[in-house]
Amino acid sequence: MKVLVTGGVGYIGSHTCVQMIEAGMTPVILDNLYNSKETVLDRVEKLTGVRPVFYKGDIRDRAFLDQVFAEQDIGSVIHFAGLKAVGESVEQPLKYYDNNVNGTLVLVEAMLAADVNSLIFSSSATVYGDPASVPIREDFPTSATNPYGRSKLMVEEILTDIHKAHPEMSITILRYFNPVGSHKSGELGEDPQGIPNNLMPFISQVAVGRREYLSVFGNDYPTVDGTGVRDYIHVVDLANGHLAALNHRGKTAGLHIYNLGTGNGYSVLQMVKAFSKASGVNIEYKIAPRRPGDIAECWADPAKAKSELQWQASHTLDDMTADTWRWQSQNPTGYPSK
Ligand code: NAD
Ligand code: UD1
Repeated sequence: MKVLVTGGVGYIGSHTCVQMIEAGMTPVILDNLYNSKETVLDRVEKLTGVRPVFYKGDIRDRAFLDQVFAEQDIGSVIHFAGLKAVGESVEQPLKYYDNNVNGTLVLVEAMLAADVNSLIFSSSATVYGDPASVPIREDFPTSATNPYGRSKLMVEEILTDIHKAHPEMSITILRYFNPVGSHKSGELGEDPQGIPNNLMPFISQVAVGRREYLSVFGNDYPTVDGTGVRDYIHVVDLANGHLAALNHRGKTAGLHIYNLGTGNGYSVLQMVKAFSKASGVNIEYKIAPRRPGDIAECWADPAKAKSELQWQASHTLDDMTADTWRWQSQNPTGYPSK
């Protein structure tokens, strides 16, 4: 089975392609390289012995998509392609609605025209807004606090309508909690351009000497130590969640929504401590004001994915920090440019 992986050169997509190849599947990657480097494909080939077919282009380009579907016998699409920087989405909302919402519309139109009826979509725990309680179940109310989150929520709602009109389609919405970590080889990892927005890449850049210290955004939340608590999930566990969703899709058409998280929450200071232990480097940090839009606590109830997809996360916090450190120390400035 060939699976079209949009955004497959990116952080989560590249890890998913490796897991797919190792499971005997054939990913066909489509990416415009806006936020990734083609050298990732060299690493995927080094790890698996297989260089996936790669199409460089944009999901908003309908003629290009038609060409890909005509040339490749695609059975399913995993749709990772999207922009993900919350702050940038506030400054440039149109860019986010065009790329994330319009891009998905063009992709689904091309899928329907090519009779491809299986889609897995990358959503985010951000669609739960500020949850009334934790752990968060899939049936909790959804809301958005910024254009990035709203683009994910809009796509979820649009996909729900599309499924009503096309009940033969199998649509799986995966709501990721906080993806961290790297392939255990240290060959693949997260390579943010510019100043990292997210905690784990920021901590690892402090550890490797690229940043002086971490700003801890608030220590007065009602949490274990006052700092924000999140459900960090190893990217390989997350990747395997897509394989589980692909296998499940074969059994049931329908629209399915799953949390992909571990069910455990860790605070910012717990993450700093764990990373210091893994790296042997003391992570300098300073307490800073809260980041606007942040919530105190967010972690998943992953029971639905366990019972329906037979999937659960297996990597520990030590795996997440050790693997991140291996990637960062082996690739202090990220992937090389070609
Ligand atoms: P990433 O930026 O590393 O990967 C996304 C890939 O999509 C990049 O390679 C980029 O070049 C490509 N892309 C973007 N727009 C495109 C377009 N119009 N046409 C073709 N390619 C395009 O991001 P990631 O962390 O791997 O995230 C993958 C998906 O998961 C995104 O949709 C993101 O919103 C979602 N998500 C990520 C996180 C996270 O923390 N990383 C959390 C929740 C959800
Ligand atoms: C952020 C996004 C969310 C997105 C998610 C995954 C915001 C407001 N939310 O969520 O929409 O789905 O990333 O990409 O940006 N922290 C620090 N110092 C830092 C960075 C982070 O203290 O330099 C803290 C944060 O306050 C938070 C925790 O670390 O408590 C995790 O932050 P982050 O990695 O950005 O993830 P989220 O806030 O969960």
